[in-house]
Amino acid sequence: MTVRWGVIGPGGIAERFAAAMSDVDDGRIVAVASRSTERADVYGDRHGVPHRYGGPDAVAELVGDDDVDAVYVATPNQRHLDDAVAGLDAGRAVLVEKPIALDVAQAERMAAVARDRGVFLMEALWSRFLPGYRILRDVLDEGRIGTPLVAEADFGFVAPVDPTHRLFAPELGGGALLDLGIYAVHLCSWALGEVEDVAARGVIGSTDVDEIVTGLLRHRDGGLGVVKAAVRASLSCTARISGSDGWIAVPAFMHCPTELTVAGGGRVETIDASFTGDGLRFEIDEVHRCLAAGRVESDVMPLAASLAQLRVLDAIRTQIRDPR
Ligand SMILES: NC(=O)c1ccc[n+]([C@@H]2O[C@H](COP(=O)([O-])OP(=O)(O)OC[C@H]3O[C@@H](n4cnc5c(N)ncnc54)[C@H](OP(=O)(O)O)[C@@H]3O)[C@@H](O)[C@H]2O)c1
Repeated sequence: MTVRWGVIGPGGIAERFAAAMSDVDDGRIVAVASRSTERADVYGDRHGVPHRYGGPDAVAELVGDDDVDAVYVATPNQRHLDDAVAGLDAGRAVLVEKPIALDVAQAERMAAVARDRGVFLMEALWSRFLPGYRILRDVLDEGRIGTPLVAEADFGFVAPVDPTHRLFAPELGGGALLDLGIYAVHLCSWALGEVEDVAARGVIGSTDVDEIVTGLLRHRDGGLGVVKAAVRASLSCTARISGSDGWIAVPAFMHCPTELTVAGGGRVETIDASFTGDGLRFEIDEVHRCLAAGRVESDVMPLAASLAQLRVLDAIRTQIRDPR
């Protein structure tokens, strides 16, 4: 079976999606929707996409296209809810870029539509499907560092302040937390499980988005997480998980590592986690696997994990905005 994809929002990440798709045997992009006919055509020409939809009705036209099996929502964050619901309402499987929504309330609405329609929905949190994160899971499950107790993760760089760019525009769901902090929170949850409590502080910049974020997480199983994210400071972009009998170092970029160093049981080992091509390929493979099995959710990235993560992000944002 070949999964026929429609892409909404032919921007930066949609380019990578097309590159990743070229390495996938059982999928192809058959449609693209843009606010502009010209941009739909540019993407269509570049990637051999036959159906191009441009203008204000483009999303409705794409999701109504019966040649489309699955929709990839690659628009800025504030569009995720409407674009995903359009796809779900039309009965298409939907893969939504991270963060799946601006907040947990939006994500719950999205999940409810998917449930009502019996249609597949997944957040495109690509880290989770990469070899490095699979290996990380195995190393933890094998108890090679004992009980994981502390996870530290940060992701940040200096970006020029541009109020029109999605990173700095509040109306596009901008800010360090939703763009980068999500990966740090994700790593802590992947290593230490569900988050029970959050303490956070941050810096709100001139465009009214969070530019620097720091957070402490207390996990239900007793672990502690430390997360940082920034769009105005160069952070290490690494992670470290420390346990009762060792540690795991995740080098930059910690959201897509190509190796891990594991110390435990008296030895230190560097494990190769490299991959060829664009790493978005692994999340596409997961969608294809789920659709072939008739599943409406991924067990690797279930909606419950997306909702739990957004609860943490919501709590951090609330404390940054109202630091009592
Ligand atoms: N997984 C990853 O590694 C990764 C990396 C980067 C970004 N992302 C995520 O991917 C999403 C898109 O990021 P991006 O960097 O690709 O963004 P982008 O290039 O700024 O925007 C993507 C496309 O969305 C459309 N768009 C822009 N502003 C819009 C608006 N106000 N309303 C409707 N459509 C709009 C534009 O296409 P048209 O104008 O042609 O319609 C644009 O080309 C974000 O959610 C981001 O968090 C993920």
